[in-house]
Amino acid sequence: MTNVPTRLGIDALIESISVAADRLDAIQATEGAAGNISIGVRWLLDLADRFPEHETIALPEPAPELVGTAFVVTGSGCRLAAIRRDPEANLGVAVVDPGGETATLSTAPRRAFRRLTSEFNSHFAIHREAMAAGADYQAVIHAQPPYLTFLSHIARYQDESVLNRRLLRWQPELIFQFPHGIGVVPFLVPGSAQLARLTAERMRGRTLVVWAKHGIIARSTYAIEHASDHIEYAEAGARYEHLNVMSGEPAEGLSIDEMLAICREHGVTQTVFTEPGRSEGRRGIRESTVAVELGGPALSIALSLNGRRRRTRQPA
Ligand code: 13P
Repeated sequence: MTNVPTRLGIDALIESISVAADRLDAIQATEGAAGNISIGVRWLLDLADRFPEHETIALPEPAPELVGTAFVVTGSGCRLAAIRRDPEANLGVAVVDPGGETATLSTAPRRAFRRLTSEFNSHFAIHREAMAAGADYQAVIHAQPPYLTFLSHIARYQDESVLNRRLLRWQPELIFQFPHGIGVVPFLVPGSAQLARLTAERMRGRTLVVWAKHGIIARSTYAIEHASDHIEYAEAGARYEHLNVMSGEPAEGLSIDEMLAICREHGVTQTVFTEPGRSEGRRGIRESTVAVELGGPALSIALSLNGRRRRTRQPA
């Protein structure tokens, strides 16, 4: 976890993308060319040295309110694991033109892609929402962590209330990471406008959305490492869930009462569990949660439970 970003320049943004990409590679969430990353910033970047070539591209949708906003984005077909070795080959920077219908894409002569990621429309829709709410920085990551992705192939985990109850119970940190739950979008064709629209909707007030039968998409208006942390935590929950199912479900995980007690102790406002806590067995797992969307960006809580009593609130 890094500190709140000041107005990072292009070198620092690229370094942060490399750190996150390496982390996703380490947890096997980006096989081959799977996954894509974007960072949107509402300040000027000096691109002349690293990305001296320019072309005009259409934006996924007109966004006159984003004129001048810069998006550092992975190219379609690029390997996230290769970014550190050769960022210029794998990244481009799109700056929204006056009028908000097109962008100027700056790239390096040795770019290894023809166009930006095929999921840029989903990234862009998420960026639009955050920036409309006042963010001047946001990182968005799509990855394919195997346990989350596998569970998303099972019909019951496509129900948000089931997914949240089953995953958040495995570590005390999870309710801090996802105080407004994890969203779910049913399977939609990758890269489709429908996927972009529904993703932005389910992401509202949240930091991670599962794309059923595909992967996940996560965001942070704080730091890209924070977005990759969200992915790691959610994947840890999915791994425990898988382990439990494969073992014949011997463990119950944290009860709702226990999670609510954690939230009370640390002053976390959560909207996942709507019923008063109670001890529950499997019945409770099926019944007791509703993930509620909030209008603005979520507050995420970065903390260590190792004896630290004071929490730090950070924008998502
Ligand atoms: P891109 O190579 O176009 O970014 O697509 C990768 C991916 O993971 C699609 O879901």
